[in-house]
Amino acid sequence: MRFVFRDAGVPLCAVALVVGLSAGVLGLAHADAARQVVRFDTTVHPALWPKVRWPLARDAALEQRVQTLLSKMSLRDKVGQVIQADIGSVTPDDVRKYRLGSILAGGNSKPGGGRLAGPAKWLALSDAYYRASMDTSHGGVAIPVLFGVDAVHGDNDVLGSTIFPQNSAMGATRDPELVREIGAATAQEARAAGINWTFAPTITVPRDDRWGRTYEGYSESPKVVASYAGAAVEGLQGKPGTPQFLDSSHVIATAKHFLGDGSTKDGKDQGDAEISEKTLRDVANAGYPPAIAAGVQTVMASFSSWNGVKMTGNKALLTDVLKDRMDFQGFVVGDWNGHGQIPGCSNVDCPQAINAGLDMYMAPDSWRGLYEHTLAEVKSGVIPMARLDDAVARILRVKFRLGLFDQGAPSAQPLGGKFNLIGSAAHRALARRAVRESLVLLKNEHHLLPLDPKQHILVAGDGANSIPKQSGGWTLTWQGTGTTNADFPHGESIWSGIDAQVKAAGGSAELSVDGKYTHKPDVAIVVYGENPYAEFQGDVPTLAFAPGDPTDLDLIRRLRAQGIPVVSVFLSGRPLWVNPEINASNAFVAAWLPGSEGAGVADVLLRNASGKVQYDFHGKLAYSWPRTAVQTPLNVGQKDYHPQFAFGYGLTYEDNGDLGKLSEVSGLPANVAAPGVYLQRGKPAGGLALTLSGASGSPVDVTAMPAATPDDSLKVAAEDYQRQEDARRLAWSGTDAATFALHAIKPLNLDRQTNGDVQLVATIKIDALAPGRVTLGMDCGRTCGASVPVDATLATLPKGQWLRVGMSLKCFHDAGANMARIDVPFRLETAARDTISITHVALGTNADHVLPCPKP
Ligand code: BGC
Ligand code: BGC
Repeated sequence: MRFVFRDAGVPLCAVALVVGLSAGVLGLAHADAARQVVRFDTTVHPALWPKVRWPLARDAALEQRVQTLLSKMSLRDKVGQVIQADIGSVTPDDVRKYRLGSILAGGNSKPGGGRLAGPAKWLALSDAYYRASMDTSHGGVAIPVLFGVDAVHGDNDVLGSTIFPQNSAMGATRDPELVREIGAATAQEARAAGINWTFAPTITVPRDDRWGRTYEGYSESPKVVASYAGAAVEGLQGKPGTPQFLDSSHVIATAKHFLGDGSTKDGKDQGDAEISEKTLRDVANAGYPPAIAAGVQTVMASFSSWNGVKMTGNKALLTDVLKDRMDFQGFVVGDWNGHGQIPGCSNVDCPQAINAGLDMYMAPDSWRGLYEHTLAEVKSGVIPMARLDDAVARILRVKFRLGLFDQGAPSAQPLGGKFNLIGSAAHRALARRAVRESLVLLKNEHHLLPLDPKQHILVAGDGANSIPKQSGGWTLTWQGTGTTNADFPHGESIWSGIDAQVKAAGGSAELSVDGKYTHKPDVAIVVYGENPYAEFQGDVPTLAFAPGDPTDLDLIRRLRAQGIPVVSVFLSGRPLWVNPEINASNAFVAAWLPGSEGAGVADVLLRNASGKVQYDFHGKLAYSWPRTAVQTPLNVGQKDYHPQFAFGYGLTYEDNGDLGKLSEVSGLPANVAAPGVYLQRGKPAGGLALTLSGASGSPVDVTAMPAATPDDSLKVAAEDYQRQEDARRLAWSGTDAATFALHAIKPLNLDRQTNGDVQLVATIKIDALAPGRVTLGMDCGRTCGASVPVDATLATLPKGQWLRVGMSLKCFHDAGANMARIDVPFRLETAARDTISITHVALGTNADHVLPCPKP
């Protein structure tokens, strides 16, 4: 069935009513079910969208400067202006030659190409690009370059910066003024490091928490998002009409991702929002009118689609709605090669995007080819000159408003080089306050909290002393992985905040990740939750927390069995189904991703030395908490709304926090593992099988221990890793080549993970390694696959110890595997007399030892 509303005269509410009726006629009780059959038209009715007033009056002097400059620019100058390249792929010399309008540093791009960089390096790099943009020795017009980064929870790319709580935490504070202050602090830290543009705030309205970017959004509620959008923009840019607006202590902001990024089907990142125009307008668009009214200078077009049409190519929405109807007078920037996803486009060629209303292409590594094609397309008239002029004029206006032409090099600007602003005491105090305000108390049996700091307190769990884990994605690196506490020179873990306060009060605290203590505690605080992720790498099929991995639950239960009361501090970007963990704990705190100021947790959980509450809980859920792992989508206001904890829930110390036992029926089929886990506790995850094959005889499906190939060239037996029989010991006889492999019943598409920086990570122990080739492989059908020799590296690793060894998926791709249809995600083969134990195989970024790609 296809339902369309072509008649522009039909009011949207009537349309919605008809949709409802059609679903009813079909006997579909559920809105979701209706969504599967009802396909919406993609016609847009701009007149039905909100009218917004741009807050800046027409400025004749500014227009004059823009027009004068424009009239001096050659076609090449203009094309350069609408292209943004990434610092990993563009040099200052390129900027000088191509006259590019902007550069960015993507989540993994650092000055000097290193892993991390401090502010001095950022500032020097920014100066270098600035000078190149002002250098006309090779011709062209001097136009200062804009330097953009994802400063999304603090100036999080720069070593030493203050890391604020992620946006889903900020939603729980219901405190837009606090977000304004954080924006102002972030802008100052950015300016000190030479950055003048941030791709923030994300004003998405995430409607399905399986989406990996849920934490980037303030709330599932369009109202809450709308209440934050203006304050977030004004914090970063300053308030229009005041002298501080876009002054040298502010940066330009980006409202993103326009539009419907949080409404995609099944919460799939970069997916398709299959919703009506009315829902797109009333839900997804809620933050844009206030952001525009606050004078946001740029809007980023979304990777995602609306009813099958890519947003980056949607003229009706980018031009007719955003620019014309909603009066947005800044410029539209694309997302990371987002234009390349428009049908008929590639990363290096896409007139469709600019013709639809995009003003600046984000062409990180593709800028050179894009420049040539765009130039040719303006010459041939495929891109109208008037459209290019409009795009350039919009970009120039923003640069003039920001005072870029008058301020000189980044280091010469008032805050340039004021590195004491970065991670300053004042900013960290602000972040710590944000942590306190964002914590949500879900359970507090018999008023266990607040805790007396004079006791002996055990702090356990793998999140207890991990600033990376408490900070999440977009922290120093794109995924927020690959860092340690040492990379946060000013930061404090949750443990160190508790430890300091307990000590000061005369109590004692003990840190033990696995919960084994030297001295029996009076109470335990267990800190655990999601590991860092960003974008599509955080997409999950269900809301189950750590499916198939009961480590944290076991830890809590073990402590309880010893008579120790347990407070759970749960770190996550989004609500997840944790009813077993809640039941097992006496108190449960949703701490979101609080960032670098972990001490904010102790401020709320602990009384002071004289027994007084320091700070009560303040946070209220801005996302509905699910009753089962499969209750998606779940949003306040929907029909049959029946969450475990409703939107707005959040206890205080006054409240009775006894919950009774929650249902532990997850709704999941048995034996599911987290996505990307192939072997767990020695057993293949659901959808996979374990086989052994020798030189002769058919492959053996291993379903019980021990097992062997028919020729005994490879034997497998159970072994203990952390528990009884949770690993497999593989013993090769050394007579013939034999293989240990995991087979996927349905081929896996690992394309996206390969483009990101994901590795295949195995937890192994090498007991014996004889000389001879060992290969690690992935297969994609009988005649397709990659085998990478690894014996040289394995030989350098310590023997008899459990290690996480990983290899980038890119290696398998480069060695010939078709990553879009992997049916054997892990294969280990040798003819040598080796003994290797294995317990876990999964996609990840957490290898201790990275095996190198083979030389081509
Ligand atoms: C993300 C954007 C981000 C951009 C630049 C993209 O992959 O979707 O949110 O601003 O990269 O890093
Ligand atoms: C991200 C960038 C990141 C890159 C890594 C993009 O999707 O937005 O910020 O550096 O992927 O490959």
